Amino acid sequence: MKLERINPNIGARISGADVTQFTPDNREELLGLLDEHLVLFFTGQNVTPRQLLAFGRAVGEVQPPDEAAPYTPHLGGDLEQVQTIDVTGTARGTYADIYHSDVSFFECPTYAALLHPDVLPDIGGDTIWASMYAAYETLDAPVRAMIEDMRAIHQVAMPGNFMEHSHPLVRVNPRTGRRALYLNRLFTKRIEGLAPVESQNLLEMLFTHCTLPEFQTRFTWSPDIVVVWDNRFTLHYAVRDYTAPRRMFRTSTCGERPIGPSEYEAMREAVPA
Ligand code: SIN
Repeated sequence: MKLERINPNIGARISGADVTQFTPDNREELLGLLDEHLVLFFTGQNVTPRQLLAFGRAVGEVQPPDEAAPYTPHLGGDLEQVQTIDVTGTARGTYADIYHSDVSFFECPTYAALLHPDVLPDIGGDTIWASMYAAYETLDAPVRAMIEDMRAIHQVAMPGNFMEHSHPLVRVNPRTGRRALYLNRLFTKRIEGLAPVESQNLLEMLFTHCTLPEFQTRFTWSPDIVVVWDNRFTLHYAVRDYTAPRRMFRTSTCGERPIGPSEYEAMREAVPA
């Protein structure tokens, strides 16, 4: 297996691996690679939806459809944990074509998401991922201090679907202690404890900051790719610049409740040395 970093802040291409051979015994290695690179592009993979699901089970506990993507169609029968992503018929900037992390309105949003193309347009339809570690780490110290203990409301309001949850604005990876910004333009609606004008302007500044090109990788798909990304510490954006059909198979794994810096420190202090 050969791994090449493709951007300084995010993304690694992995060749010479066969994702159908991974099992939960490989989980620790895979999660370690996600901690380091955030997005893993496995080349040379021609997998069926069933094989994508099996790879998902190697990465983690696969989410049931109502926790993975409650408003996204999925395959039937024993493949109901595989969704199909197709923006046809949705309004621009309301679904995958806006910077987001999946289902952040839940108490325990998705950990890892996996994607493999079903149908690709001849040209266009790239996906962009952004590192929220890099976004946090490049904020100036006074801004990092100001937002350290803030929380924000993540919400989805669709016909028949209203869900919201409060999460820390600075999220800590419980495995490594690394901090990241935790917000996204699709679901983060307001910062708790601030006046609306303050919340709106601070969110706008952070939304703009976290999508600077320096924190990103932009990937042009080919049919033989399987991507796995850490949904907790990235944003993604499906570029809607194509007219021919584009459909992706997706599955995802269960995540933990996001924790902020003070909760992380309290957890560490509670663990005997
Ligand atoms: C998604 O938002 O999960 C899908 C991304 C894509 O279709 O490229």
